[in-house]
Amino acid sequence: MAEVKQHKIMLSDDEMPTRWYNVLHDLPTPPPPVLHPATGEPVGPDDLAPLFPMDLIMQEVSGDQYIEIPGDVLDVYRLWRPSPLFRAHRLEQALGTPARIYYKYEGVSPAGSHKPNTAVPQAYYNLKAGTTKLTTETGAGQWGSSLAFACSQFGLDCEVWMVRASYDQKPYRRIMMETFGANVHPSPSDFTEAGKAILAEHPDSTGSLGIAISEAVEMAAQRPDTHYALGSVLNHVLLHQTIIGEEALLQLQQIGESPDLLVGCTGGGSNFGGLMFPFLREKWAGRMAPVVRAVEPEACPTLTQGLYAYDYGDTAGMTPMMKMHTLGHDFVPDPIHAGGLRYHGMSPLISHLVATEEVEPVAKPQSECFAAGVQFARTEGIVPAPEPTHALAAAVEAANECTETGEEKVILTALCGHGHLDLAAYDAYLSDKITDHAWGDADTQSAVRQSLSHLPSPS
Ligand SMILES: Cc1ncc(COP(=O)(O)O)c(C=O)c1O
Repeated sequence: MAEVKQHKIMLSDDEMPTRWYNVLHDLPTPPPPVLHPATGEPVGPDDLAPLFPMDLIMQEVSGDQYIEIPGDVLDVYRLWRPSPLFRAHRLEQALGTPARIYYKYEGVSPAGSHKPNTAVPQAYYNLKAGTTKLTTETGAGQWGSSLAFACSQFGLDCEVWMVRASYDQKPYRRIMMETFGANVHPSPSDFTEAGKAILAEHPDSTGSLGIAISEAVEMAAQRPDTHYALGSVLNHVLLHQTIIGEEALLQLQQIGESPDLLVGCTGGGSNFGGLMFPFLREKWAGRMAPVVRAVEPEACPTLTQGLYAYDYGDTAGMTPMMKMHTLGHDFVPDPIHAGGLRYHGMSPLISHLVATEEVEPVAKPQSECFAAGVQFARTEGIVPAPEPTHALAAAVEAANECTETGEEKVILTALCGHGHLDLAAYDAYLSDKITDHAWGDADTQSAVRQSLSHLPSPS
């Protein structure tokens, strides 16, 4: 009988990890503190209390190595977790590479991406603290759909500010959020002072994640029964996502593999951190030695072209100041199709790991990413979300290098979402309507210079 090639490496429900991993515990050097926007002093738990429940605030600053996942959260996770790890045999064959490519697929979740991994605990801890409504922003619509789903599981109201560019490109994401019961506004909107100020200056603004965050934060800060939920960037969000990496470690162990290269896309850093942190723990313990690569869009190259400096997480300057790679909080990136990667800043944890050379960043143009996405769809049968096509493009590049050198490297990537509601982007690519926004052009350079000249003073 012919040998059966194993495509899917699965875990059973009872093999699902029951703890999140807190990378803060093991970082070789601690990251710089988060500062209060008004005083410039390190923020304390009480400063964050108007926006987040205390359980999440304590997770944000926790030094514990592991945090137990509450039973009610595990119950919801089990709707789709453990997620499968795939060996990309057909992609490898098409590339003719000796590399072995694995992808951890988060598109099996209710929203179609990794985002419910944190939406569910955020809704759970808010319900526990007596919150009745959550506000948030969404770029690609994946985070908004995830929070809408999580709120529906725990009986919370949900109000979402969706970046105007995505709101117009992705009506089905809005409908999905509404189906889960959320109320959705395009951002900038005239519901908030932050939105009104932007619209007064730029009536045709395509919006940005920074603007949408300002609107959602402003609404949450006004009411004690309303809190804000962020889909990326913060330590507790990346903590919740580590279930991805913990599962992937168990799955690779099952087949006796150890990765040589880990690649993931970075918008705010959550799917990347979620997959990478448990592997970094293993690396620091001397049990493996993978190269860890973060891939961002050339049109919003925060890690490769931004400054590592203190900046606000939102456009209006309402959030604490975080030391991170930034293009400036009022920089509005081109409306590229990977809406989830259009963020001016980056998770402070990922920025710190890049600054300390634990993670190497690269930027890719969207045409190369869509080419990799289409090749992946035609070989592996999954249409990826535009965001993880950045990681796929880097994985394909590394696999092609293996073809040149003959090395049999093990490459692991995060396929953090499917693109079933992003087909308009594929339509644009297939009909040659995708352009690569040259980072070096005079307009962009002057916009970034201007935006970086507005960084807050601690930098
Ligand atoms: C499918 C998908 N991947 C990646 C991202 C980027 O976010 P993060 O870097 O936090 O994973 C998003 C954000 O919306 C997304 O929807």
